[in-house]
Amino acid sequence: MSELVSINGKIFKPEDALISVFDRGFLFGDGVYEVVRSYGKILFAVEDHIDRLLKSASRIDLDIGLTREEIINELYRVYNHANSDDMYVRIIVTRGQSERINIDPSQSLKPNIVVYVKSIEKSDPKFYTEGIDIVTASVYRNSKKALDPNIKSGNYLNNIIAIGEAKKKKAYDAVMTNSEGQITEGPTWNIFMVKDGRIIGPPDHSDILHGITRKILKSIALENEFKWDEKYFTVEEFKGADEAFSTGSVKEIMSIRSLDGSKIGSGKPGPVTTKLSGLYKGYIKKYCDGRKNK
Ligand SMILES: Cc1ncc(COP(=O)(O)O)c(C=O)c1O
Repeated sequence: MSELVSINGKIFKPEDALISVFDRGFLFGDGVYEVVRSYGKILFAVEDHIDRLLKSASRIDLDIGLTREEIINELYRVYNHANSDDMYVRIIVTRGQSERINIDPSQSLKPNIVVYVKSIEKSDPKFYTEGIDIVTASVYRNSKKALDPNIKSGNYLNNIIAIGEAKKKKAYDAVMTNSEGQITEGPTWNIFMVKDGRIIGPPDHSDILHGITRKILKSIALENEFKWDEKYFTVEEFKGADEAFSTGSVKEIMSIRSLDGSKIGSGKPGPVTTKLSGLYKGYIKKYCDGRKNK
């Protein structure tokens, strides 16, 4: 079975996987989620993803009722049912089903845990070899003080608006700024630019999700003596970069070749992006080989 859904431990075909209309994830976006990608049969960096899921849940006072190890074992159990290589694995935990429509989160509810497994939809290779075109979204990334992007929740509406704007402009995707005009991140990816040989990304304290790919890339870059800076940059500064790229678990590293129609650098994947992509692939292989032998 290459596509399946588990709801609270019970496995269904996708078309039979149904959840109540009173589920708070459906009603209010009151839930958290993670997406893990598998390489072969190994769930890459699953420990980091589940740590982040637990952190997101704790930030909204949602008790999943399972330990890190129990969640990882459950993901593998469901994943092994699919028995297929290179999959997209999503875990969604909502606060559960309200007895009636009542926004108050302090009711005593049982979380709903959904795991969805499907084949990875591979992006057109040209986006890796040629780079992607992005635009600046009109909506800001959520301020940490409103809804911290580190709570990876079902509230993705402004990210959805951003992607919608990009598609209308025939761009691949959009990047969001904060209210000061500083670049934060894309709807499902972190962003970096390269200037004078330095890799520059928005700082940890900015309005971004701390991506797992971003974290791994930082350790790889430092290990390989790249120069790594974390600081704010504006749209105009970004347009003057030598190279730029996005990072995310599903699409890994993608070169960004233009922003709002302005070419970035040579308009092709640059040497730093290309080197980092190769090192990142090497890291994935090492991680997966290490897990296979366990
Ligand atoms: C808003 C946002 N930023 C960044 C990322 C990239 O995070 P990761 O590298 O952990 O996949 C994601 C991934 O879903 C995201 O939703």
